[in-house]
Amino acid sequence: SSFSTSSSAYAPTNVKNITVFGSGLMGAGIVQVAAQNAFNVTMVDLNPDALKKGQDIITSSLKRVAKKQFPEDAEKQKQFIDKTMSQIKTSTDSEAASKDADLIIEAIVENLKTKQQLFAMLDKVAPEHTLFCSNTSSLPIGEIAKATKRTDRFGGLHFFNPVPQMKLVEVIRTDSTSQDSFDSLLDVCTRMKKTPVSCKDTPGFIVNRLLVPYMMESLRIVERGEATPQDVDTAMKLGAGFPMGPFELADFVGLDTMKFIVDGWRKEGKIDDNLVAPVKLLDELVAQGNFGRKSGQGFYPYNGVGGKK
Ligand code: NAI
Repeated sequence: SSFSTSSSAYAPTNVKNITVFGSGLMGAGIVQVAAQNAFNVTMVDLNPDALKKGQDIITSSLKRVAKKQFPEDAEKQKQFIDKTMSQIKTSTDSEAASKDADLIIEAIVENLKTKQQLFAMLDKVAPEHTLFCSNTSSLPIGEIAKATKRTDRFGGLHFFNPVPQMKLVEVIRTDSTSQDSFDSLLDVCTRMKKTPVSCKDTPGFIVNRLLVPYMMESLRIVERGEATPQDVDTAMKLGAGFPMGPFELADFVGLDTMKFIVDGWRKEGKIDDNLVAPVKLLDELVAQGNFGRKSGQGFYPYNGVGGKK
């Protein structure tokens, strides 16, 4: 096929330079982990304030990492932070920032059209060998890739929040992703000291495909008046060994994000409707603006810094 011809023309990429689009929570985390592991990284955001915020997220996270890695050695801590920061460039110029990239990781807003527009533009300006990846949680990788002519060099790298702490990366291959591209992505994860797992391009990949229906069923237990959120959380922590109960997790992820994901999956129609059937309780909380940790109130109240009240 034309894909196998073009994939052999682009042998496995030895990724050295990574450009990350989006300097929000996820983008900043990915930039930090890449820089800590000797990649040259460019962090891009359209919004200069967001770029500044991304840098602040990285600096304060690096301070914590440095203290852990070099306890009682202020000089080594400083060297580690300076070295990591020196691997990071920032830019608001999407085109210029993609010129030297071996790998582009997109972590911008969760909107299919916006992501397609970005990649259609990048396809024209990035080098031929550059691999493209999305960090999307809920959109089909294949749909995003369609906006480009390099579907063989396109895959998913799904990181988890908080990126510096969470060891897992789901590496997603579409039917068009070449073996060479896929191998390069696995190699990048390993060099970032993450543990990759492979998954086909399916709704929620592995983790969210299992977690989201479980969280929806937790909501139904409460809605039917069978148990309280507190008791469900205690039950799953002490009875199933989960580090967080489903309501604590929902507040952490954001109830708006959860609703966005299930609404999207229902529309796509690729998974059993019953698993993601709407729950009134969720829709009501979201309509009231009670999104969880980030808004100060979800199933639990939170104080300013996101801790439980
Ligand atoms: P965020 O909203 O914190 O950050 C997105 C950033 O992208 C903003 O700073 C915005 O200014 C910037 N941006 C928007 N359009 C842009 C463009 N065309 N070029 C450059 N920058 C642009 O979002 P967050 O939470 O960091 O998520 C980003 C992506 O990561 C989403 O696709 C999301 O589904 C995915 N994700 C999120 C997780 C989470 O727990 N928040 C977990 C795993 C994946």
